[in-house]
Amino acid sequence: MIPIADKYSTFARFYDAMSGEYPVYRAGRKIGINMLRQRPGAQVLDVGCGTGLNFSLLQGQVTPGGTIIGIDRSPEMLVQARRRAERNGWTNIILIQADATAVSPTDIGSRIAAEGGRAQSDAVLATYALSLMKDWEAAWTTMVSLAAPGASLCVVDMQKPVGLATVLTPLAKTACWLGGSDIDAHPWTAAERDCADVLAASARGGHLQIRAGTRRAGT
Ligand SMILES: C[S@@+](CC[C@H](N)C(=O)[O-])C[C@H]1O[C@@H](n2cnc3c(N)ncnc32)[C@H](O)[C@@H]1O
Repeated sequence: MIPIADKYSTFARFYDAMSGEYPVYRAGRKIGINMLRQRPGAQVLDVGCGTGLNFSLLQGQVTPGGTIIGIDRSPEMLVQARRRAERNGWTNIILIQADATAVSPTDIGSRIAAEGGRAQSDAVLATYALSLMKDWEAAWTTMVSLAAPGASLCVVDMQKPVGLATVLTPLAKTACWLGGSDIDAHPWTAAERDCADVLAASARGGHLQIRAGTRRAGT
């Protein structure tokens, strides 16, 4: 069994094809990114960015003049993200290798600044990433610190389906198990707890949960 830490590195090249993006997971990222409501020129930080599946949707909001920063623990996933940027001719993407649960926001902020970005972003999101971090609360604290006051914060993640869709629970559990996610982690509850003006949505029979809000002053 490949440890979770290495899983994404081992399968980075196949992630896009294996991730169930179009039938299932794209729906959640689309809703979450719409909720960010960013404008051209904005800087967005994508925590656990993986191969950069959020980037084209984010470009739709921040271009022209904006910046996308992707942080991921896996160098191999970042190679795929860099290839995506090169393929599309995107020159406004900064990629940083870091463990979001262990790095200090000051360190990340200065690494972003060294690459020409601002230490704090106008929006910070994590899609399908927090539920596979054991200490996702630490990553959430980092996300909040790297959001400018009044910035948008968004979490898109997974739970067991609800209602009629509970018949799909074994499928959802298998997908999370394969990806190393804890289907019972429910990391969007941190956004409900810590943000103002929280927007909530779900998709795919409740399997995808989306929360977005703004960073409260003084947090
Ligand atoms: C399921 S993928 C999701 C990737 C992308 N956000 C998406 O929506 O397709 C989870 C990503 O989180 C990254 N990751 C896991 N633990 C991490 C951590 N502690 N710090 C930073 N990235 C992490 C993995 O390397 C992987 O690229």
